Amino acid sequence: MDATTGGARSASAEDLRTAMVERLRGSGFLSERVATAMLEVPRHAYVPEVEPAAAYAPFEAVVIKRSAEGAALSSASAPWVVARMLHQALPAPGARVLEVGAGTGYNAALLAELVGPTGSVTTIDHDPEVVDRARRALAGHGRVAVVHGDGAYGYAPHAPYDMITVTAGAYDVHRAWVEQLAPGGRIVVPLQCLPWHMTVAFEREDDGVLRSVDTATAGFIPLAGAGAPTGGTACIGLEEPLLRLHDAKADGAALRDALEYPPVLRWTEVVVEDEPGWNHLYLWLMAEIGDQGLCKFNLTPRGQEERAARVPMEWGGLAVHCGGSFAYLTNRAAASDATAGSPLELAFIAHGSESGELADRLVALVRRWNDGPRFRPRPRIEAHPAGTPDDCLGGRVVLDRPDHRITVVADGPV
Ligand SMILES: C[S@@+](CC[C@H](N)C(=O)[O-])C[C@H]1O[C@@H](n2cnc3c(N)ncnc32)[C@H](O)[C@@H]1O
Repeated sequence: MDATTGGARSASAEDLRTAMVERLRGSGFLSERVATAMLEVPRHAYVPEVEPAAAYAPFEAVVIKRSAEGAALSSASAPWVVARMLHQALPAPGARVLEVGAGTGYNAALLAELVGPTGSVTTIDHDPEVVDRARRALAGHGRVAVVHGDGAYGYAPHAPYDMITVTAGAYDVHRAWVEQLAPGGRIVVPLQCLPWHMTVAFEREDDGVLRSVDTATAGFIPLAGAGAPTGGTACIGLEEPLLRLHDAKADGAALRDALEYPPVLRWTEVVVEDEPGWNHLYLWLMAEIGDQGLCKFNLTPRGQEERAARVPMEWGGLAVHCGGSFAYLTNRAAASDATAGSPLELAFIAHGSESGELADRLVALVRRWNDGPRFRPRPRIEAHPAGTPDDCLGGRVVLDRPDHRITVVADGPV
C-alpha cells in the first residue's frame, strides 16, 4: 500500500487520526505545527499489521519486530511520545534533519512535513529488514532518504544537520552526532541509565558544552551496535533474581538477601500532579544523589510472578541503594475520588538491614524538594566532552560515558 495516501482505509482512519490529535492536544505539549503534520500523515499505513484503531491509540506503541525472547526490537513509538519529541525538536522549514532509528518510517514522514519542500530528512536504521520496510512505506517521499548503518556514527555523507533526533535509547551522546551538527543545531535524544529514561533536547553552546533546553520522561528500545548498553546490574533475590538494579556500583553480594527483610513503607505527604512535576523531581534527585546510589530497577520475570506475594512493587522505576539496603519510589492516589492521571502521593518502600534509615533519609530529601526547590527552574542536564576535569563540570556527574560526561545542574537561571 502507498503510505503517502493511506489507501482504501483512509475514510475511517481520518476520524481516528483527528480523535488522536484531539486527545494529544489535551496534554498541553502538542505544537500546532506538529498537530498539522500528525493530521496529514496516515499513521495506520506505516503499521498495516494492526487495525487502524490500534495504530491511532494515543498512548500505545506498535511493536513491529521482536527478538526470539520477546524483547521489542523495533516499533512505531506511541503517538504521545512522538508528539513530545517533535515538540522538543521542532525543526524549522528548510531544516536538514537526521533521525536515528527509522523503524516504520512514520516519524520520518512527520519530520518531512515539518521541514517542508526545502528541507531534507535522512533516517538511519541498523536492521536491514527494517530499512527495507521503511523504504517501502516512504516510497514517493522525495524529501526522505532511508539509509542502512549504525546510527551511533550518525551519517556523515548528508551532514551537517540542523537537528538530530534519536528514536532509540542512548547511553551516551555520541561524538559523531555533535561533529555532524550544524552551528546552532539541536540534538534530541532519549538518555537511558538515568533513573528513568529521559528525552533531552540539547543545544551546543560556544564553550562546546551541550545544555538541555527541555527534558521529558519516556521509555525507548535501546540502541544496538556501538551504542549498546554497557555497565553492570546487581541482581537481588536469594534463590533466583527477582529484581535488578541497573548500576555497576550496586553491591550485588551485599544486596542479595535484602528482599528477605520485611518491607518498610514511609509516606512522604508530598504530592506530584503531572509529568513535568515527576521530571523535575527525578532531575533534582539526580542533582542531589547523582551516581551515588540512584538508579533504575526492574523486576525479572520471576519477580513479576511473585509481585503480589514477596515483591510488593511496581514493574520498575527509580531506586536508591546503600550498602545492603535499597529503596524504591512508589505512590498512591492523593484523593479518594482519583481517576487516571490524578495527583499522587509519594512514598518509599525499603528492604535490607538498614531499610528504616534509608527510607527516612529519602523521605526527608523529597520533603526538602517540596519545601522550595520544586518551585525553582527545572534542573538542567549537561553533556561535557569526555576528559573534562571534575572542577570544570559544575553539577553532579550522573553518567560517565566514553564520549561525554553527563551532569545534572540544579538552580539554573530563572
Ligand atoms: C522505537 S524504534 C524507532 C521508531 C521510528 N522512529 C518510527 O517512527 O517508527 C527504534 C529503532 O531503532 C533502531 N536501532 C536500534 N539500534 C540502532 C542503531 N545502532 N542504529 C540505527 N538504528 C538503530 C531499531 O532497529 C528500531 O527500528
